[in-house]
Amino acid sequence: MCAASYAVMGVIMSADRYFTEDEIQRLPVHIAAIMDGNGRWAKARLLPRTAGHRVGSETFRRAAEFMSEIGVRYFTVYAFSTENWKRPPEEVGVIMELLEKYLNESVSSMAEKNIRLNFFGDLSRLSLRLLALVEKTRKISENCTGLCVNVCLNYGGRQEIVRAARAAAEEALAGRVCPENIDENYLSSFMYSKGIPDPDLIIRPGREVRISNFLLWQCAYSEFYFTDKMWPEMDETEFVKAIKSYLDRNRRFGGI
Ligand code: FPP
Repeated sequence: MCAASYAVMGVIMSADRYFTEDEIQRLPVHIAAIMDGNGRWAKARLLPRTAGHRVGSETFRRAAEFMSEIGVRYFTVYAFSTENWKRPPEEVGVIMELLEKYLNESVSSMAEKNIRLNFFGDLSRLSLRLLALVEKTRKISENCTGLCVNVCLNYGGRQEIVRAARAAAEEALAGRVCPENIDENYLSSFMYSKGIPDPDLIIRPGREVRISNFLLWQCAYSEFYFTDKMWPEMDETEFVKAIKSYLDRNRRFGGI
């Protein structure tokens, strides 16, 4: 095993299978993904849309393992938006069922894989059973020190910002903060992503070139990678391509 391969709490990190030592030093700390294209992937194969979500769910599981393997610290995925409730109830039901299945399976494997699960979004609209599973997996994995997976569930970027603004307003009304002290850091502390660095790279498969209300606050200086591949087609090769594209960029954060 070369110097770039190492083990963290029993998980073998092998970024050197895909990246040079110099690239490994500059890998994104936080990668986010919009899991788009499940429906079209299925339709192109004359399958029901829900079949696309089933394969997409497996793609997500493998993607998280890959991120863990190469040593990415945070992986945030858009699993269900505040707007996705507009879909037919059967489709919403299958997505919720897939989430439950993933969480149930994760309960036993998270400690071994050292993966922490975290959730962004208004969870109050989830079924009590799913909510209980969310809490259980969050609790069981809270001391895992490897990859942190943030699953966005009933999540909307605008809703997150409104929620933060409201919380800050309440603090101001209660006299616990002066309005002039409400700055970016203060507002960040009310986001679901509190304490988590902003995504370095946001990957969107599915041929659409838009942000769709995802991580609006956090994406200010993220690099974007769009691909015509559909989410179920995103494999290691595609993620490596996305990361290499990120590594080729010159991030200036508004400087020169
Ligand atoms: C977008 O594709 C995908 C979703 C709204 C659902 C994503 C959910 C999963 C992958 C399954 C469960 C998730 C986890 C974390 C286990 P789309 O349906 O909009 O595709 P289309 O644009 O081709 O119609």
